[in-house]
Amino acid sequence: MRFDILTLFPKVIEAYINESIIKRAINNKLLEINIINIRDYTLLKNGQVDDTPYGGGAGMVLMCEPVVRAIEAVKDEESLVYLLTPQGKIFSDKLANDIVKKTKHLILVCGHYEGFDERILNFVDGEISIGDYVLTGGELPAMVVVDALARFIPGVIKEDSFMNDSFKNNLLDYPMYTKPRDFRGYLVPDILLSGDHAKIEAYREEEKIRVTKEKRPDLLK
Ligand SMILES: C[S@@+](CC[C@H](N)C(=O)[O-])C[C@H]1O[C@@H](n2cnc3c(N)ncnc32)[C@H](O)[C@@H]1O
Repeated sequence: MRFDILTLFPKVIEAYINESIIKRAINNKLLEINIINIRDYTLLKNGQVDDTPYGGGAGMVLMCEPVVRAIEAVKDEESLVYLLTPQGKIFSDKLANDIVKKTKHLILVCGHYEGFDERILNFVDGEISIGDYVLTGGELPAMVVVDALARFIPGVIKEDSFMNDSFKNNLLDYPMYTKPRDFRGYLVPDILLSGDHAKIEAYREEEKIRVTKEKRPDLLK
């Protein structure tokens, strides 16, 4: 799957994609991530990409021209284009899965300052928010989206790990333990040491339901 990330701060994205699972997926050609600097698409002198809001008010607004030109430089008929904004559709496991099924080419546009000129909405497929809070820029949200989608791409993570992760079938994952068996009097449940795989599997299924009821009963509705 190919991602084009449009940003004014490429280094923030570079730092993230050059580590761990995402880096390995890129090296294995499962993911392609291109970082596009919106500033390269301005037609104005001094690399200007933003201006003061019409009607007055604080802050600077990202201008249409550089953002739309940057989108048009990478977009084709197959692409889906989303702005990262706090006003968008709330991102979820389901939305991540839906996007992976719909396209092999996702363009994510990171805002900054006061956000985007509203008219840019006419050139995109939608807006994604990663939650009801306001961040200083769209770079972290873009990374959240890339990372969550990457996990749905075959080969990026192990299949059995993926199948048991939280939110599959509206359940949370079962509790996990590793060595030592006794940590300051807190013990690993005996059944996990029994070697009886059928019993362990049944126990884990029950645990998923227990944990979901306890922590996220809303998922079971
Ligand atoms: C300071 S915010 C702009 C907020 C905007 N004035 C508003 O209140 O809706 C700057 C940029 O950060 C990004 N951003 C902030 N919070 C976000 C969120 N919860 N989800 C996605 N993107 C977010 C967006 O790209 C946004 O354009």
